[in-house]
Amino acid sequence: MVLYYCLIAFLALFAACDSYKVLVYSPAMGHSHVNFLGKIADTLLDAGHEVLVFLPVMDPELLTNGTNRAKVLRFETGMDPSILNGHSFKTDPFDEKRDMQDDGNLEIFTKIMMDSCEAQISNKELMKTLANHHFDIAITEVFDYCAFGMFKLLNIPSHISACAAPLTDTIGDLFGVPEPLSYVPSLFGSFTDEMGYIDRATNVFMSQFWRHFLRNLLDKQNQLFQQYHGSDFPCLETLAKKSGVAFINANEFVEFPRPVTHRIIYVGGIGVPKPKPLPKDLEDLVSSAKKGVILLSFGSIAKSILLPSEKKMAILNTFASFPEYTFIWKYELPDGEKELFSNYSNVHRMKWVPQVDLLNHPNVIAFITHGGANSMTEAIQSGTPTVAIPLLGDQAHNVAVGVKRGVSVLVLKQNLNAETLTTALREILNNKMYGVNAKRLAEMIEKKPVKPKEMIVKWTEFVAEFQDLSNLDIAGRDLSFIKYFCIDIFAPAIVLLIAVVAVVMKFLTVLGRKASGMFATKQKQS
Ligand SMILES: *[C@@H]1O[C@H](CO)[C@@H](O)[C@H](O)[C@H]1NC(C)=O
Ligand SMILES: *[C@@H]1O[C@H](CO)[C@@H](O)[C@H](O)[C@H]1NC(C)=O
Repeated sequence: MVLYYCLIAFLALFAACDSYKVLVYSPAMGHSHVNFLGKIADTLLDAGHEVLVFLPVMDPELLTNGTNRAKVLRFETGMDPSILNGHSFKTDPFDEKRDMQDDGNLEIFTKIMMDSCEAQISNKELMKTLANHHFDIAITEVFDYCAFGMFKLLNIPSHISACAAPLTDTIGDLFGVPEPLSYVPSLFGSFTDEMGYIDRATNVFMSQFWRHFLRNLLDKQNQLFQQYHGSDFPCLETLAKKSGVAFINANEFVEFPRPVTHRIIYVGGIGVPKPKPLPKDLEDLVSSAKKGVILLSFGSIAKSILLPSEKKMAILNTFASFPEYTFIWKYELPDGEKELFSNYSNVHRMKWVPQVDLLNHPNVIAFITHGGANSMTEAIQSGTPTVAIPLLGDQAHNVAVGVKRGVSVLVLKQNLNAETLTTALREILNNKMYGVNAKRLAEMIEKKPVKPKEMIVKWTEFVAEFQDLSNLDIAGRDLSFIKYFCIDIFAPAIVLLIAVVAVVMKFLTVLGRKASGMFATKQKQS
């Protein structure tokens, strides 16, 4: 009996020490972002921690919570859906010129961040509800700096940053991660780690552009917090820099290699669910395909219906020229354009597709994708080669990575026509290397020495326990540009070198003149 009570007491102690209250702060801004944070939540839940996923809703049309197991608190920030719907990534993702850096888009982004932040910190009831949970640790995706101010207001003693994309400048700067722009390409560009002169120049300007944008947002959010919580509210950037580690949704075997620090933890692939068997009708369709199935999906944001009609026809006509293959196109509009597809017997339109399950089916041999981070990861982990048509954001980067790893063929959206698509499809279908490369990468990821889920659990527990990890702070983070690159040492050295060379040259010229003078006199004499 005594032993029994001892055991209970021991277990209780064990549980009390080992279980943390975790706030997962997941700005509801995009499917892939919410899913990544949801997967982190589920992973921590499975490890026995108490998790609340808090979703400030920035895109009211985004209904997913990223988890259906963790406790969820959705907070309507009162965002007018028409604001985000005016953003070109929703209205016209296939536009040939528009990209993320358009001023209009950035203005919309700033407005959403500011309005949502104000709605949260000004809502006393919400803040009280959250504070009453007495969280031990918080995890947030870093779009802006609002979450870090919230954590301070909620007295949460430690936090972790996350990024549903590969490492961004923002997170890199928080941790002082070296970013040699000569071979580390901007996340919003299409460069690889081998750049020509113009590429490198563009890369430098692009990275400064995003830094400038975020600094602007930081100033605005600092003002917002000071307005509500007094002028001595700490700078949000200082708070953000206290993040213990950062969980990055990238895989080191796939992404371009770059220097990182001890705080950057690559956990790519945790968002990919285990493949399941296909539903009966789909299984019949896929297994009856003569030479295999090719899936086309532009992801959850870019609706295929928004494709200009000549591009729709180009795609359909391309597919018609591969009659032995079956094509499945994720195409949202259920009935309106039925006729469009009626003449193409090898093209099947589906409103929704079980993407991971399809990609893992042995008869699905290629994937035409927009190159979203999740789609690329899912393709690679299933060993499926891709024809990638990047539309915006980090997609061009993800595709550049896929091309470098020999698993993707790129088709520019500006250049999407029957000819380019046919060439790309032929290349993927005829050259076996793409599939071989994809399978090898998939295997490496599968056999990674430390599994991403394990890293998430152990690092979260570690940060929650020790809270202050300033012994990992990189000194270079707070150095000025001149000091960081030792310009104050190289510049005087170069000046000195030039001076010495000039003096020597001068000396030699004088000497030379004298010598030739002497030569001339000698000649005169003789
Ligand atoms: C998301 O969570 C809310 C609770 O806040 C719940 O009502 C809703 O059904 C969930 N949505 C999904 C898609 O699971
Ligand atoms: C389908 O084919 C028929 C007969 O060739 C043609 O009349 C019709 O216009 C075609 N429809 C489309 C949408 O191309």
